[in-house]
Amino acid sequence: MNSVPTRKSDLDTPCLVLDLDILNTNIAQMQTVAAGAGKRLRPHAKTHKCSALARRQIEAGALGVCAAKVSEAEALTKAGISGILVTGPVATPEKVRRLVELRAAVPALMTVVDHRAGVELLDQALRARGLTMDVLLDVDAGLHRTGVKPSDALELAGQILARPSLRLKGMQAYAGQVQHIQTYEERQAASLACLREAAELFRKLRRLTADCVIFSASGTGTFDIDIRIPEITEMQVGSYVCMDAEYRAIGSAGDAARFTSFAPALRLLTTVISANQNGFVTVDAGLKALYRHGGVPEIMGAEHAGMAYDWFGDEYGKVSFPDTVAPPPLGSVLELVTSHCDPTINLFDRYYLTRGADVVGVWPIDLRGCSQ
Ligand SMILES: Cc1ncc(COP(=O)(O)O)c(C=O)c1O
Repeated sequence: MNSVPTRKSDLDTPCLVLDLDILNTNIAQMQTVAAGAGKRLRPHAKTHKCSALARRQIEAGALGVCAAKVSEAEALTKAGISGILVTGPVATPEKVRRLVELRAAVPALMTVVDHRAGVELLDQALRARGLTMDVLLDVDAGLHRTGVKPSDALELAGQILARPSLRLKGMQAYAGQVQHIQTYEERQAASLACLREAAELFRKLRRLTADCVIFSASGTGTFDIDIRIPEITEMQVGSYVCMDAEYRAIGSAGDAARFTSFAPALRLLTTVISANQNGFVTVDAGLKALYRHGGVPEIMGAEHAGMAYDWFGDEYGKVSFPDTVAPPPLGSVLELVTSHCDPTINLFDRYYLTRGADVVGVWPIDLRGCSQ
């Protein structure tokens, strides 16, 4: 890598910057809300894919981080991060082998299970190595993506309990389908309804075994709602730390039209590289730099009010502006809030850390590409 510029205005684009002060405020804010409600935090590293950021969350009070995939857990472990929960079930012998290999090195590693066949695979691999492992029951809280059906959960719990290699530590119930419901009131009603049902199941699990002490749930869109469920012990929130346009566009407790609980720490810098047309200019961030999913990317800065970004192929974006707004000149740099932070972050190798106009550091996105 070339030497890192000391001024944000000298960064080459497209690139990702993290505003350190906003980032620290987001981390502290979530930690304070969780701690105030008696919950622990195990933030999801699938959002930021960065072990340095995970370390900062842990230093602020998190008990570890979540990983979506085994390869993310491997990279986090390599970087010295502990307290990892793998939130996606594993279903093949090869993936189970990797997971058990990692467990051999890290006794505190936890994973979820959601199917009898997965339980069997894990049990066999652990027994072959003479190991035991802590697991959470992944329960479908209405997203229907992963998770055992609530009606089948106690039976699966019984199968876990029958295997001495597995220790049933609790359950996970991630209600992804409610996170972006537009109005706070509807989101609140939907989240409380699914998590109350999940909480009832957790009480039953606890009656089965005293080892069952963890109920992990929640996301950024419902963090201040789900803390009201007494049974939830820890929160697996992810996006709050970076934030994105998709989350910014939903209502929050304090603002019906905006999600104001956290500010956008993550920005994408993009340069105007062609300005020959009426009504729009072309910038250097397209599909390969800004993932097309979620909300409409926001162009920051009062002087850019009325401008709108749209994708313009793989390498480019189109920034349109009304007649009343001065066109951004060739070579000028725009700062965008990304549509959906997770998949956009996965397109870059590093974050530049900024404080005001200064670049104060670089964090590698070392979990980039860990999709296995
Ligand atoms: C299983 C799981 N838990 C937690 C999260 C974090 O959610 P959010 O980014 O909305 O905070 C996600 C995000 O997709 C997830 O898939």
